[in-house]
Amino acid sequence: MSINYQDRIPNNVDLGSNRTLQRALEHWQPEFLKWWEELGPKDFQVADVYLRTATSVDAKGWATYGYVRMPEYRWGIFLNERDPNRRIGFGDSYGQEVWQQIPGEYRATLRRLIVTQGDTEPASVEQQRMLGHTAPSLYDLRNLFQVNVEEGRHLWAMVYLLHAYFGRDGREEAEELLERHSGDADKPRILGTFNEPIRDWLSFFMFTYFTDRDGKFQLKSLAESSFDPLARTCQFMLTEEAHHMFVGDTGINRVVRRTLEVMKELNTDDPKTIRNAGAIDLPTVQKYLNFWFTSSLDLFGSETSSNAASYFANGLKGRPDEAQYDDHVAIEQSFTLELPDGSGVARSEQIPMRNAMNEVTRSSYVRDCEIGLKRWNRVIEKAGHTFRLSLPSKRFRRSIGNWAGVPTTPEGAPISAEQFAAHKHEWLPGEADRAYIMSLMQGVHQPGKMAAWIAPPERGINNNPVDYEYVKLH
Ligand SMILES: [Fe+2]
Ligand SMILES: [Fe+2]
Repeated sequence: MSINYQDRIPNNVDLGSNRTLQRALEHWQPEFLKWWEELGPKDFQVADVYLRTATSVDAKGWATYGYVRMPEYRWGIFLNERDPNRRIGFGDSYGQEVWQQIPGEYRATLRRLIVTQGDTEPASVEQQRMLGHTAPSLYDLRNLFQVNVEEGRHLWAMVYLLHAYFGRDGREEAEELLERHSGDADKPRILGTFNEPIRDWLSFFMFTYFTDRDGKFQLKSLAESSFDPLARTCQFMLTEEAHHMFVGDTGINRVVRRTLEVMKELNTDDPKTIRNAGAIDLPTVQKYLNFWFTSSLDLFGSETSSNAASYFANGLKGRPDEAQYDDHVAIEQSFTLELPDGSGVARSEQIPMRNAMNEVTRSSYVRDCEIGLKRWNRVIEKAGHTFRLSLPSKRFRRSIGNWAGVPTTPEGAPISAEQFAAHKHEWLPGEADRAYIMSLMQGVHQPGKMAAWIAPPERGINNNPVDYEYVKLH
């Protein structure tokens, strides 16, 4: 299924055959570009960036690479190919035909789901807009911009659905997606994590590892939807999303590797000595990990959710990888939750499986997060150290759900507010940690050069060497 690049808006949905829709989207396009210029990557709009652009939706060989100025990136509308035999995979209508149009009764709910997903895409571009100046290398600078342009394309993916299937309401929602801004006092982005500014690259790597992975799981849930165009859109977004998590995974890996080199050179694991040598001590890496992992856990919503139950029942949003489950109706099963009982221990409670869908998805997410930790810990182990990075408990530092506001240790043991306050800075980044990380943030913009706090990547992009000029600055 090739992509039409002749149209003003590249697409593989035969946009030219629907003049009204095409005109509406061409009207939105300059608004998008205005937003990109104002709130996209600051000061790098004239740089030539070695970017990939989607040219087909086949998983193999779907992208081409070349130098592009970001405002000239060909943002477009790309859906995976339609499977004419696709059936509803879960819920009350299991086995029936999927929908090509939205049933009236689900219109408002689907619109909300699409807007909430769409809102996160430009939000992350806004959060990251200052990072270009402090990139640790041109390789990293290019990866940042690749992530940014693709988040912009994900916004297009959702805006297409709003315009194509929701009429006037959808067009209004598409405009509002450009009016809300990350961290804005009056019109913030919808979800909390997407209003946290990302000022440093350690946070950027944590965000792309943990928060983009939340995105992966949301997209996987929506890729199961009975509303077929939504499912197909999300399937293709997942192809792009994989690179974002790769950036986080390898970024953290490189930070750890550099730290281990310094530890070896100086024969020490003393954080102060390591910091004096300009690297990031492992306990600080753990604190940032704790912060971004827990913040991302909240994005899955409350453990018990009647909304999640009805999304599942109605076939709107499924479990990631629904095919791996035996029972796709899930009406007679139950799920055991662990809830705080207010006296320093946890009690168990059984709830209907459908009401636990957020928790089911969150648990799959946590298992997926563990893969990277195993890899990073292997590097530490090989270097002969006993320190291990770990994921905190799902109870730790939560703002949403049953454990919201309940102080616990990172292992999940309930403690008093005083105990939490006393240990907080051992577990989460404090002012001094943030100031130290910020002090390391100095842009390195010569090909092949790396900032001192991070190891070079093992390989470059698209078989190019690491010292390739991934961004040509003017
Ligand atoms: Fe995205
Ligand atoms: Fe992403």
